[in-house]
Amino acid sequence: MKQTILVTGGTGFIGSHTTVELQNAGYKVVIVDNLSNSKSDVIDGIEKISGVRPAFEHVDCCDLKAMDGVFTKYPDIQGIIHFAASKAVGESVEKPLLYYRNNFTSLLNLLDLMPKHNVKGIIFSSSCTVYGQPDPENLPVTESAPIKKAESPYGNTKQVNEEIITDDINSGAPIKAILLRYFNPIGSHPSAIIGEMPNGVPMNLIPYVTQTAMGIREQLKIFGNDYDTPDGTCIRDYIYVVDLAKAHVKAMQRVLDTDSDKLEVFNIGTGKGVSTLELIETFQKATGVKLNWAYAPRRAGDIEKVWANPDKANKVLGWKAETSLEDTLKSAWKWQQKLRKEGLQ
Ligand code: UFG
Repeated sequence: MKQTILVTGGTGFIGSHTTVELQNAGYKVVIVDNLSNSKSDVIDGIEKISGVRPAFEHVDCCDLKAMDGVFTKYPDIQGIIHFAASKAVGESVEKPLLYYRNNFTSLLNLLDLMPKHNVKGIIFSSSCTVYGQPDPENLPVTESAPIKKAESPYGNTKQVNEEIITDDINSGAPIKAILLRYFNPIGSHPSAIIGEMPNGVPMNLIPYVTQTAMGIREQLKIFGNDYDTPDGTCIRDYIYVVDLAKAHVKAMQRVLDTDSDKLEVFNIGTGKGVSTLELIETFQKATGVKLNWAYAPRRAGDIEKVWANPDKANKVLGWKAETSLEDTLKSAWKWQQKLRKEGLQ
């Protein structure tokens, strides 16, 4: 058995997939989640897939005393993967203080408690949002591209949390950290036992696509077809959530088992830019389902085009996105069908 890892937000979309991959790799996992945006039965799903039930504590990371109690209860925790955060861009514009309070307090609590409880490493969920719209010469974007002013309080929490970790380590804190900058995580576990559960009307493209294919939404709107891209629609780097989960396992191994630098940052993407229109065409081809879609005006705050240069993660982490977009979209559709079958959507 390898080390014990604390996964905050472990019942969420990326957290649950990462827990499965950590357990498959032999790690023991303790999940902490306040269930504000997920359900505890995800634990059953994780157990069904991996054959191991992770420990679960229904605790809010913003509660310093309760988090202290978690580390005391599980003295073997050596590493943390910190997913727990508020993550809706639009909501963050309406409720900035909620976003700043949640996303800063939870990280500050973890950084305070790590030395006290001898926790060596932390992997932080960051985002390509820190690059804003990269200048043309910086596409595909590398880790050394300039950080642009955040477009939303949510994006700002990612940037400032990166800085908080950096300053803490520069001050001599006895910890190591890896910042993973995710591009657009999509899809669900091939078993369709766990997946993405958006609340209400989805804001993100893939749940909107699968819900439209299912007939839950009448029509998918493509936001803008007058961008400076080959087909006029926005370009993103869509990364399969299971591939992304595996990147966390590699990052944790690197932090805990090697003498790597105390602070490192990696882009986690496929390296392939895909337009919204291409994505819809690939979904239709992969699933055989015809989508009702139409062009609509641009969405405020959207980045025109961004995709990763993942060379550093490929070489240094020894990680590579392996799953095709077709298979990834098939998994998203299988998950949507499962939700329907179970009467959940
Ligand atoms: N889109 C549509 N129609 C929809 C939904 C989305 O055309 O109904 C388009 C968007 O305009 C965008 C693309 O699909 O071009 C992807 O949109 P998402 O909302 O799925 O993802 P974003 O790239 O806008 O946002 C994601 C994360 C954020 C993160 C951001 C970083 O959701 O948390 O990447 O760039 F901040």
